[in-house]
Amino acid sequence: MQQVNLGMIGGGTVGSGVFHALQLNGALLALRIGVPVAVRKVAVKAFNEPRPYEIPRSLMTTDWREVVNDPEVHIVSELAGGTTLAREIILSALRLGKPVITANKALLSAHGEELFAATKEHGANLYYEASVCGGIPIIKSLREGFVGNRITALYGIVNGTCNYILTRMKLEGADFGAVLADAQRQGYAETPPDLDIDGWDSQHKIGILASLSHGFWVRPEDIYVEGIRHISALDIKFADELGYTIKLLGIIKMAESGKRKEKSSCRVQVSVYPTLVPNAHVLAGVNHVFNAVFVRGDIVGDTLFYGRGAGKDATASAVLSDLADAALDLKFVSKHRVPPFVPHECDGAVLPIEAVVSSYFVRLNVVDKPGVLAKIAAVFGESRIGISSVIQPEGHEGASVPLIFMLHHATNGAVAGALKKIGRLSVVKGQPVMLRVETFE
Ligand SMILES: NC(=O)c1ccc[n+]([C@@H]2O[C@H](COP(=O)([O-])OP(=O)(O)OC[C@H]3O[C@@H](n4cnc5c(N)ncnc54)[C@H](OP(=O)(O)O)[C@@H]3O)[C@@H](O)[C@H]2O)c1
Repeated sequence: MQQVNLGMIGGGTVGSGVFHALQLNGALLALRIGVPVAVRKVAVKAFNEPRPYEIPRSLMTTDWREVVNDPEVHIVSELAGGTTLAREIILSALRLGKPVITANKALLSAHGEELFAATKEHGANLYYEASVCGGIPIIKSLREGFVGNRITALYGIVNGTCNYILTRMKLEGADFGAVLADAQRQGYAETPPDLDIDGWDSQHKIGILASLSHGFWVRPEDIYVEGIRHISALDIKFADELGYTIKLLGIIKMAESGKRKEKSSCRVQVSVYPTLVPNAHVLAGVNHVFNAVFVRGDIVGDTLFYGRGAGKDATASAVLSDLADAALDLKFVSKHRVPPFVPHECDGAVLPIEAVVSSYFVRLNVVDKPGVLAKIAAVFGESRIGISSVIQPEGHEGASVPLIFMLHHATNGAVAGALKKIGRLSVVKGQPVMLRVETFE
């Protein structure tokens, strides 16, 4: 093969970024992989849309089928977004035996199982490095770099918008609503922001990483998700006084962490929720729009990946990495590298949140009179939940005062049950606030 031709569907933020990156570094890429890569066609919705980088009109079409069906297009990139058309584009290309590159985490979350089955059926790979954490090469690392490891734990700050909001809330002592509104004005948050701040974008990405790490397809509905809407400036302040930073973490953790089994079988926590991270832990220092993924392998130990999780250039870098792999596979007619997704755990399962064990930060508003603490401690005691410390910070809210409990390891089910009872006590005002604490043990 003298030259590999790329057909692109989508010439927006990521698509035009890829075009620009190839203009800048295409020659370098060709030297490294031993074959030139050229953009043959780019499908867009409308020719005159503004784009971050110019794409020559002569390369553009508004008919995506023209790109996919062109016999001179060897590799197809789906950079249009959405789940309906994108699915159709990818399946059409795979049916023709063409490798496909996508950055579409929502699509993989919704239809990944079907798409990877199609890759097997048609003998063409689906590459998806850009779908998780933009410029951080986490997919390739999990797939190839850690091929000899069981992934016992993975913690990810995978949504830049949430991290930006939580960082500013901590640095400025500001409320969620005010920071979100400002982030929207500055273009760091979408309008409406729900996909990001309610944790769904993180759910899509963590599901992809969990499936890849554990070899069974993790369905989005099995992933427990809490966003950051309910995080208050008060909780960020109290958490800080206790030595913690609140981060929205995607967590993938083997329930029997570290135990090696001959027969493949695992129960895995897969969840997304705001978490108290000790200030001394490296993830507490990942700020603003940056992403980070902390991976623990049973052989390698602890590793950390850090970088920009989105944006035209960072995401283009990931697409180019996939492009190099796809071009090499075509050039050498090889289908024998570690494939993009291989089912290997025959009876893996996601642990229900009620069974997940964690430590906890609980904030209550209580009436300021003697005996209150004993009443609350009695409920935790009945539920066999250990209290590691109790703090009564300064400050009244009307007739009530804040009271904070740090709780030892317990299941989410036990803590939820105890808090339900505590919420009904007459000495407790309003609903208890509960956040999980990660010890990274
Ligand atoms: N933006 C990021 O930082 C980022 C990071 C990681 C992953 N991703 C993922 O990358 C994908 C693309 O995101 P993006 O930000 O680049 O989106 P975008 O800026 O909205 O670009 C979408 C592109 O698709 C084209 N398009 C839409 N419908 C089409 C159709 N029916 N036929 C042909 N072309 C069509 C649009 O054409 P027009 O230009 O004419 O409108 C546009 O060029 C999404 O799956 C997203 O989740 C994005």
